[in-house]
Amino acid sequence: MSDTSGPLVGRTALVTGGSRGIGRAVALRLAADGAVVAVNYRRDDDAAVETVNRITAAGGTARAYRAAIGDPDAVTAMVTAVRAEVGPVDLLVSNAGTASRGTAIADTDESEYLRLLRVHALGPLALVRELLPDLRAAQRSDVVVVSSVITDDMPAGGAAYAMAKAALEAGARTLAAEERDHGVRVNIVAPGLVATEMGSRLVAATAGTTIEDLDEVYPFGRVARPEDVAGVVAFLASADAGYLTGERIRVHAGGPARTLHRR
Ligand SMILES: NC(=O)c1ccc[n+]([C@@H]2O[C@H](COP(=O)([O-])OP(=O)(O)OC[C@H]3O[C@@H](n4cnc5c(N)ncnc54)[C@H](OP(=O)(O)O)[C@@H]3O)[C@@H](O)[C@H]2O)c1
Repeated sequence: MSDTSGPLVGRTALVTGGSRGIGRAVALRLAADGAVVAVNYRRDDDAAVETVNRITAAGGTARAYRAAIGDPDAVTAMVTAVRAEVGPVDLLVSNAGTASRGTAIADTDESEYLRLLRVHALGPLALVRELLPDLRAAQRSDVVVVSSVITDDMPAGGAAYAMAKAALEAGARTLAAEERDHGVRVNIVAPGLVATEMGSRLVAATAGTTIEDLDEVYPFGRVARPEDVAGVVAFLASADAGYLTGERIRVHAGGPARTLHRR
């Protein structure tokens, strides 16, 4: 149930990749905390509708916006529509993302790097550029980007994804420095493995098991859930985190599982 006295009442959030996985949990949590939420997605209309329906059924307010992050024209059209229909955004959660093919550098061509960079780094920065007038004008505003612990260890086979997330983090930290005087907080959330479709596919491809089977070897007896990430995002957007900017919080329970799987 959304809270009429919740910590985010009066805020307007845009969650990219908000239709499924981590983004859906973030959208549900921000709405439950009182924010009006614009749910961005790329192509899965049903998942986006389901997220919006869950929010409205719980008494919150949300609307879905289809636009591929990385497609400049689609993003411009989305920002115009969001501004007109739900109002100026004062909380951007840049979460949309895709996995890379996981090939070694020896076998990866430039198009794969560019594909990942576009979705994870260049697209989000273009979106921020469009939203900055609204973010600067707000009394309190935040950009939270969802990166990954992959930038801590740069494992073999992860170059395209890790480079894209590293570029995202570089952009976010620079943005934090540039926008502090405008009141815009910019922080990074870096999850380890999270139980989503992306996480499940990654485990199937790299660990030869199912993500459910990993619960028993993961810290606290479970792989992280999307809600674990959503809670940290909600904290960063709250008044309690008002003096934080340029920070990076790992959602990783202090380290990897007792297996070789490290993402
Ligand atoms: N799961 C993990 O283990 C893990 C760990 C660390 C970091 N992360 C990061 O967390 C974020 C969310 O991952 P997830 O596990 O929740 O993935 P997921 O379950 O595959 O969901 C991805 C979401 O992003 C959307 N999306 C993908 N490409 C998009 C684009 N170009 N423009 C707009 N929306 C797009 C999808 O929409 P459609 O369905 O419409 O395509 C979907 O809503 C990603 O940035 C990922 O890199 C994930």
